[in-house]
Amino acid sequence: MATPVVSVCFVCLGNICRSPTAEGVFASLVGRAGLSERIAIDSAGTGAWHAGELADPRARAAAAKRGHQLTSRARQFVRGDFARFDLVLAMDTDNLEALQALARTEEERQRVVLFRSFDSTAPADASVPDPYYGGADGFETVLDQCEASAAGLLAELRSRYSL
Ligand code: 4NP
Repeated sequence: MATPVVSVCFVCLGNICRSPTAEGVFASLVGRAGLSERIAIDSAGTGAWHAGELADPRARAAAAKRGHQLTSRARQFVRGDFARFDLVLAMDTDNLEALQALARTEEERQRVVLFRSFDSTAPADASVPDPYYGGADGFETVLDQCEASAAGLLAELRSRYSL
């Protein structure tokens, strides 16, 4: 496998709903673009409660209906991840602040951005709302927002890294 030129990690609270969805949606898009070997993709949670678990069955079912397979297992984001990823994509402002607090240097802090900042139609500082305690429509909203943001993120990476 060719060495990836850029690596990204999607981060939410539990790593079982939003960030695995973002990871799966982005992996679909990157795969369709023929860039799977150039862009490394992962996800993690700021919390460890669900470590080792597959994504929430509701997230997996909703994603599968749109052709995205969510296969990753939850893990907690650790400080060492800043050295592994060029971009750390926070799902909401709580995640953003937790990640910024974990960063040891300004350079690490600068790698953390809100995922929805790549959707030019989203308001400034927009979050992907946590669907965990809500109904099925919350998971559809997450997918809509992840699909829109993933398209913007891919366009940005193509431009930034000449992919
Ligand atoms: P996520 O959703 O951050 O999108 O994975 C959540 C999953 C689990 C919990 C909270 C949010 N929880 O409190 O267990």
